[in-house]
Amino acid sequence: MKVQGVVLDDASRRVDPDQVRLDGEPLEFPHGLLVMLHKPVGLVCSHDTKEGPRVYDLLPERWQERDPKVTTIGRLDKETSGILLFTDQGSLVQRLTSPKHHVDKVYEATLDREVTAVMIEAFERGLELNEGGERLQTLPAVLRSLGGKRAEVTLREGKYHQVRRMFAAVGAHVETLARTRFGEWTLGDLPEGEWKELPLPAH
Ligand code: URA
Repeated sequence: MKVQGVVLDDASRRVDPDQVRLDGEPLEFPHGLLVMLHKPVGLVCSHDTKEGPRVYDLLPERWQERDPKVTTIGRLDKETSGILLFTDQGSLVQRLTSPKHHVDKVYEATLDREVTAVMIEAFERGLELNEGGERLQTLPAVLRSLGGKRAEVTLREGKYHQVRRMFAAVGAHVETLARTRFGEWTLGDLPEGEWKELPLPAH
């Protein structure tokens, strides 16, 4: 490892990450990584290879060696597609997933029935879900009809299976689910199965 052409043999020295060269190459994401993936259905958001095909298998293999580890920012179910973010910055995970930071996540669902005014009001009031025997109150969420059996839901939190469970609580079944927006980010024309780097937001 070299810094400004000089071999560094003192591990305690503080250096500018932009100046570091490893085997002659600059470091990849020296200030941290933020990546958006267009997740297809059928992949799990787990590091464990025993759980089946993983979203991490769509990223460069060398990133699995990074320290700090690259993880998803929140999770999508195996059967959910859409925008999924990855980072190695723990503070960013906290900032983008904690409801107190008011980061909207938008989902499009196809249901087994049409959206009704009663459902819209129930989402707006917040629903009571059963969480392992405990009662969990959801924060107010915005539900709107996209026509026919299609619906859009905007949430500020991300409990396990939350969208599917909220619809189940009002008597509807989710047939397909895709996340279309995460905070300020949308997929744009990113093809399914592909990823792209994003600039790290300013602190
Ligand atoms: N809500 C769900 O039910 N599933 C997801 O993958 C994301 C939100």
